[in-house]
Amino acid sequence: MFYPEEVIEEVRQRNDIVNVISTYVKLKKTGANYMGLCPFHSEKSPSFSVSGNKQMYHCFGCGVSGNVYTFVMEYENFTFPEAVKYLAEKAGITLPETEYSSEAKEQADFRNQLLEINKEAAKYFYVQLMSPQGKGALEYLQGRELTKETIVKFGLGYSNKYSNDLYQYLRNKGYKDSVLMQSGLISQDEKQGAYDKFWNRVMYPIMDANSKVIGFGGRVMGDGKPKYLNSPETKVFDKSRNLYGLHLARTARGRTMILCEGYMDVIAMHQAGFSNAVASLGTAFTGLQANLLKRYADEALLLYDSDEAGIKAVLRAIPILKDAGLITKVVKLAPYKDPDEFIKAMGKDEFQKRLDEAMNSFYFEIEVLEKDYDFNDPEQKTRFFNEMAKKLLVFTEDIERNNYIEAMARKYSITYENLRKLVHKYGITMPVTQASSIIERRQKTKKKEDGIQESQKLLLTWLIEEVSLFDKIQGILSPEDFREEPYHKVAQMLFTQYKEEGEVKPAKIINSFSDKEEQNEAASLFHSNLKENMSPKEKEKAWNETVIRIKKESLDYQNRHATDILELQRIIKEQAMLQKLHISLQDGAR
Ligand code: GTP
Ligand code: MN
Repeated sequence: MFYPEEVIEEVRQRNDIVNVISTYVKLKKTGANYMGLCPFHSEKSPSFSVSGNKQMYHCFGCGVSGNVYTFVMEYENFTFPEAVKYLAEKAGITLPETEYSSEAKEQADFRNQLLEINKEAAKYFYVQLMSPQGKGALEYLQGRELTKETIVKFGLGYSNKYSNDLYQYLRNKGYKDSVLMQSGLISQDEKQGAYDKFWNRVMYPIMDANSKVIGFGGRVMGDGKPKYLNSPETKVFDKSRNLYGLHLARTARGRTMILCEGYMDVIAMHQAGFSNAVASLGTAFTGLQANLLKRYADEALLLYDSDEAGIKAVLRAIPILKDAGLITKVVKLAPYKDPDEFIKAMGKDEFQKRLDEAMNSFYFEIEVLEKDYDFNDPEQKTRFFNEMAKKLLVFTEDIERNNYIEAMARKYSITYENLRKLVHKYGITMPVTQASSIIERRQKTKKKEDGIQESQKLLLTWLIEEVSLFDKIQGILSPEDFREEPYHKVAQMLFTQYKEEGEVKPAKIINSFSDKEEQNEAASLFHSNLKENMSPKEKEKAWNETVIRIKKESLDYQNRHATDILELQRIIKEQAMLQKLHISLQDGAR
């Protein structure tokens, strides 16, 4: 691993899990724990529990568990070293220098320089906008009804009419040509030498989710062509995995994101109070962008231009969003072209109404399909139903599919039976390819556990909830009685912690598993469903049953695998003792 174990543990201890998770999820104290809506699956009532004592979280809905590291790794899509860095910074801990390879170091330096250059350029453009030579640009933006506050919030700027002033400015800051030429801001040719790529345009800095400027869009003021000039892809600007406005939208309330096409649309929506709006970057929407959205949202509202190109783009985006596990709806703005125009013409209340009326994306797809067929012609009408039947196969769950068949049958006046038969026909001949990624994931995490593992889990959870119980199983149970991994490894660490420190730190144990799945599985061992409010008598009974069950299974196993007579004698003796075992949970006694 990257950092020494003590450092990793210190960083973990200095980041209280309740504090950290609270910055992402709204938590409410209930009993000893905090509850909230699970950020890793879509739900309406809270089943995501965070424990300050355990320094762990667990979702009773989808089964995810872990510590503060796994949380930020999952939520922010960080690698482990990134998570350590992020949390160390939060806690004000200076990490020891890690040993990069010289190549990796150069790469990192180069990327950092490009980010610095972009930041400098954004500042420069802003200063230009606010100075006398930027008057026209400022008037243009004000003409589009942007407030000063909005201009500042989005860091808008102006690239003025000199051909290489930005280049000179950056050179004076000490950046070398070799780096500047790869920043996407400066070009060169033999005649002119180095010159600025953006000239006399309003500038929109494009930021990544962490508010780092990664590129620019530049718009002509008026009707010139091309309307927009965008930074080319660079080492820091990947159009397929970023979204305009996400650095602001990610902190918006709720789990819905508005996805639109234009920079101006995003800006207009934010200004009107719809701060959950983002846009793709002038290229087709990608699966990477959908996954990015899924980190912050469960629902996507598509708000593309209402022209033909916009409709095509919506049809392409729908399956991509659905594959990422997002509920997808389409908002119609007709007769207006885009959100910017709509808000200007109708105001934000009317806009909110349109959002509320967002159309189920399947209905939208069928509505578009419908336009290609003339229902007065029986042959065309038949073809329409066939096409619709094929589309209905995207629903892999029977109930959902049947609900849609029912709705469509009603809408297009065909009997449910007839439409169902048609769907069924295609269902047999066409393999259903679209598997729901969410369902798969849940099935994976909810692995079948046999009874003995349930008992072991229960015991481990019990032990961390009530450390005094360790003394009650001394000489009876040991980590060796937990055979399967990760039970064995977890038990071993837990017993050692208790023995050496008199307390347990379950969250620390998670760090020693490197793989995500393993971490999750290990963490889940501390989140068995302990029955609450048991009477002392019930509790004692349950405790004894659990201990005896685990020990019995362990002894049976040893018995089957014993290799010498002495060992066998010991096992038989222990089995006999187990028959009579009763652990009292009354104080002191045993
Ligand atoms: P306004 O016309 O100022 O309202 O811009 P807009 O942000 O609403 O953009 P529009 O809806 O016209 O286009 C959507 C997006 O497509 C823009 O934000 C750009 O990312 C991209 N785009 C538009 N025109 C061009 C162009 O001429 N060249 C390139 N490369 N991208 C463009
Ligand atoms: Mn527009």
